[in-house]
Amino acid sequence: MEHEISITEQTERKVTDTKSVPFGKIPTEHMFIAEYKNGDWQNAQVVPFHDLTLSPLALCLHYGQTVFEGMKAFAMEDGRINIFRIDKHYDRFTKSLQRLCMPPVPKKLFINAIHRLVQLDSDWVPREADGSLYIRPFMIATEDRIGIKVSDEYLFMVVCSPAFQYYTKPLRVKVETNYVRAANGGTGTAKCGGNYGGALYPTQLAKDAGYDQVLWTDSTHHEFIEESGTMNAMFCIDNVLITPQLTGTILDGVTRDSLLTIAKEKGITIEEREISYNELIRAFDNGKRVEAFGAGTAAVVAPIEIIAIGHKEFKCYTEPDAIMYQLQKELLNIRKGIVPDTHNWNYVLPLNP
Ligand code: COI
Repeated sequence: MEHEISITEQTERKVTDTKSVPFGKIPTEHMFIAEYKNGDWQNAQVVPFHDLTLSPLALCLHYGQTVFEGMKAFAMEDGRINIFRIDKHYDRFTKSLQRLCMPPVPKKLFINAIHRLVQLDSDWVPREADGSLYIRPFMIATEDRIGIKVSDEYLFMVVCSPAFQYYTKPLRVKVETNYVRAANGGTGTAKCGGNYGGALYPTQLAKDAGYDQVLWTDSTHHEFIEESGTMNAMFCIDNVLITPQLTGTILDGVTRDSLLTIAKEKGITIEEREISYNELIRAFDNGKRVEAFGAGTAAVVAPIEIIAIGHKEFKCYTEPDAIMYQLQKELLNIRKGIVPDTHNWNYVLPLNP
């Protein structure tokens, strides 16, 4: 079934300079909203950004039935705008929704919603090399009921915010062996709000101890690296790119997948497998060159400078010739249209709609 999208434009338009503002603080002028009721999506609209009215009984406020995505649009060298890997984000969104018992959004509606919104707010896409428009599609359960149940009503929304560097300096991270982010059979691979809420306390403890983020370990042995707070974890040990395999407890990162693809094409050896913190300690102790970095939509490639394991801190390789910077540059070049997009990752908007 076709879902028409109506558009109501803000009467006065003004792009705010957001470069010095914290990530995600300033929304663009419009947002997308659609309601799910009686088994279908309705009232799909792009409208001026505004607050929501929700019943205090809305199920999302009590039981965490919420799912979101994080994606980006980029200004290309030729002046056009592209939305990066919209298909893969859609597929992940759909899987997350299924895990949280939420209704799917038809692919056409998802793509049209983001297309129309980004097109309308295209002046907000930063033109600077380190800038992008962060796009946040999300769904919340809105049925008003205090008893726990699968909601029969939802809102699907998309908001955007100009983004620059998420982390402004190389990170100090702490291997977390006490608290866990996800366990087998849990929701680790879904991009649902609860995963992030549960991570706040251990992350705060790490921050209080002088670290920027945690490196989560598995829930059985508390030894194998899973992912970092806002991104997948990647290591280059003596030029071999190693990242935890997708076991169901970590997020199937779009940036992770893109960097692995780029690395393969560059002839870099890739290993998607278990990696324990003991293996990291051995590599550091044996004088190997260890690069560590996070890969995520918001963070892109976030170099890790220090890894704390127990009471010991280990220094990672962050010199300009590090492999992670080569991968980061190639990814940016694809997004900006500087090199050919051989994988069809860029969903390019027409110049004159
Ligand atoms: C993203 O990278 O898109 C995320 O969802 C991480 C979020 C904490 C900003």
